[in-house]
Amino acid sequence: MIKKQPGWVLPDLREAQKRTHQDSKIEKALFSIPVQCQDLGRGKYYYLRTYGCQANERDSETLAGIFEALQFQPVSDPAKADVILMNTCAVRKNAEDKVLGEIGHFKQLAEQNKDLVIGLCGCMAQEESIVQALLTTYRHVNLIFGTHNLHRLPELLYKVMITKEKCVEVYSKEGDVIENLPVRRFGKHKAWVNIMYGCDKFCTYCIVPYTRGKERSRQMEDILEEVRTLKEEGYREITLLGQNVNAYGKDLGIEGGFAKLLEETAKTGIDRIRFTTSHPWDFSDAMIEVIAAYDNIMPFIHLPVQSGDSDILRIMGRRYTIEDYKRLFDKIMAKIPNCAVSTDIIVGFPNETDEQFEHTMDIVDHCKFDNAFTFIYSPREGTPAARMDDNVAMDVKQKRLARLNERWNQYALEKNKAYEGRVVQVLVDGPSKKNESAYSGYTDTNKLVNFEANGIHSGDIVNVRITQARTWSLHGELVEEKDK
Ligand code: 5AD
Ligand code: SF4
Repeated sequence: MIKKQPGWVLPDLREAQKRTHQDSKIEKALFSIPVQCQDLGRGKYYYLRTYGCQANERDSETLAGIFEALQFQPVSDPAKADVILMNTCAVRKNAEDKVLGEIGHFKQLAEQNKDLVIGLCGCMAQEESIVQALLTTYRHVNLIFGTHNLHRLPELLYKVMITKEKCVEVYSKEGDVIENLPVRRFGKHKAWVNIMYGCDKFCTYCIVPYTRGKERSRQMEDILEEVRTLKEEGYREITLLGQNVNAYGKDLGIEGGFAKLLEETAKTGIDRIRFTTSHPWDFSDAMIEVIAAYDNIMPFIHLPVQSGDSDILRIMGRRYTIEDYKRLFDKIMAKIPNCAVSTDIIVGFPNETDEQFEHTMDIVDHCKFDNAFTFIYSPREGTPAARMDDNVAMDVKQKRLARLNERWNQYALEKNKAYEGRVVQVLVDGPSKKNESAYSGYTDTNKLVNFEANGIHSGDIVNVRITQARTWSLHGELVEEKDK
């Protein structure tokens, strides 16, 4: 155990687990750059690396915005940076191992440059054991902060750069919803829009409710204003983000909840709206109706099933049976024409039997998902599942994963084959780095399309005839230019 230094705030998973009924405040003026920090980054470079989910991507856009407000410039080579910051994910152990490996490599840079700041933030910083490891084994890391205090980056950087003190500030309790933080968007045509933070579902395997705190929604008007501004700036697609978007507005008592927000967002007239992630438990009929009614809400739903077995689902704390899931899935397919569905699946949850795993194969046969993210269960310290005994050997889990992947890939190819000969609308991401006339982009159903074209630009929505389907992508040819 490392001795806590004055001024350090260390993570505490027990505190993080607690939920209060106190409402979160919406803070509109919390962020400022103290006078002494205003020139902190002049002539200096930052290297920011992001792991994990879209919430982290969006957080990194805020971090980049703050760095640039402090006059830092971005750099893609960590060896050239004055500040290295890793924005990390804690959802599975292999993601953490990758980060720790990377941080190990930075030790040499730290030895060469005594002024180098090496920081770790994001979900890993919220874990007690990780912070202990950073303080004992990875001593060259001199800045650690969590998911709840991104807005403190100017002060924290000042402390570590000017006073040369190691700085650890991880709040275990979520704070207020902070509006008006700086942002440097990484995309020019597609943008992430947070609608809520945190998660209160506490699925028994998942660390997210501990690392990201309780559910806190943004005000609907603030979200809509952000979407309108993005539209004015030329953005064509936005993705509404939350750990479980269906819970939007429940904490603020917003009438109509997510369905209402979705509808109001559609009325802004922005070209494409996506959202992620939806929990099957509280996916309402009103949501299905709104998605079906508006052309600018994309017919694509990420609907994590996690397991095809009702007993496992119960132990996972998912709050639905596999029959519930099937009913919801069938309703979505019946009411939203051409809808694509992707999913997340965990294999090898503690004590999962062969028969229970076969039920997961059955749900894949039933739903024929367009895409699936499949994982071997990874015990996360502090979660209930991590305390369960597990009698399933790792090689059994690996074999299950391989069989599952083979099965869903087969259906994904089958689904893609149905696109051959069809003309689809594609939002162009841009030409490939190697070949200027090789473009790629995504359909409304979130299929990656590669095609040859000249005279088009990223951000255009074009018609493409699909000539060939592959498992993970479609190949096509440009039909005509549309609404540039
Ligand atoms: N082990 C394996 N996969 C996990 N996920 C979340 N927690 C774990 C864990 N402990 C997966 C779930 C979730 C996705 C984001 O990551 O499938 O939907
Ligand atoms: Fe984790 Fe469940 Fe919350 Fe998703 S809904 S983030 S799986 S606890």
